[in-house]
Amino acid sequence: MQYTRTAIWLHWLMAILIVATFVMGVSVANIEGLTLGKLKAVTIHKWMGITVLLLACLRLLWRLFHPAPPLPDSVPAWQQKAAHAVHALMYFLIFAVPLSGYLFSLAAGVPVVLYGIIPLPLIIEPNPELRPLLRSAHFWLNLTLLSSVLLHVAAALKHYFIDRDTVMQRMRPW
Ligand code: HEM
Repeated sequence: MQYTRTAIWLHWLMAILIVATFVMGVSVANIEGLTLGKLKAVTIHKWMGITVLLLACLRLLWRLFHPAPPLPDSVPAWQQKAAHAVHALMYFLIFAVPLSGYLFSLAAGVPVVLYGIIPLPLIIEPNPELRPLLRSAHFWLNLTLLSSVLLHVAAALKHYFIDRDTVMQRMRPW
């Protein structure tokens, strides 16, 4: 049994976009000073991050009406429980990571105009006290995302190369 075609495409599209947004986030955070290049890069990072948030909404909606295919019986119960826990954590993070970045930007007094055309709602006022807290929230949530993605990829590779079972085939785009 496979995931639906839509779930598979959303999974891989989001995987690529999240990795690119993460790499871009680390790169911009390491640029010293406030240059035009940095401002452009941060803006693109924000657009990519908000796109992840929009795709996350689509994905959650799709998932609510299309349950995941069951794991094969050969997978021990504890591994099934661990997999479900990591999947739930990643669902939380695909919302929490971009939302923390968005709130951080607003607290810093920088509104986001998506793709340069859609002004996004100012759900909080600029707030110098909240700003550093939201910045570290964005950082730590990203670190949690990185750890859970690494665990997820390691488990998938173990199923493919060591267990040689059908777990990876469920998410194969072809
Ligand atoms: C999947 C979505 C996202 C990922 C994976 C991501 C990842 C990251 C990472 C890894 C950093 C570097 C953290 C650090 O070293 O302190 C960062 C910084 C940042 N992110 Fe995000 N982010 C996402 C979404 C967003 C969104 C939606 C916004 C705002 C609308 C945003 C705004 C920022 C800002 C302003 C910085 C700081 C850049 C600087 O140092 O000037 N991020 N992000």
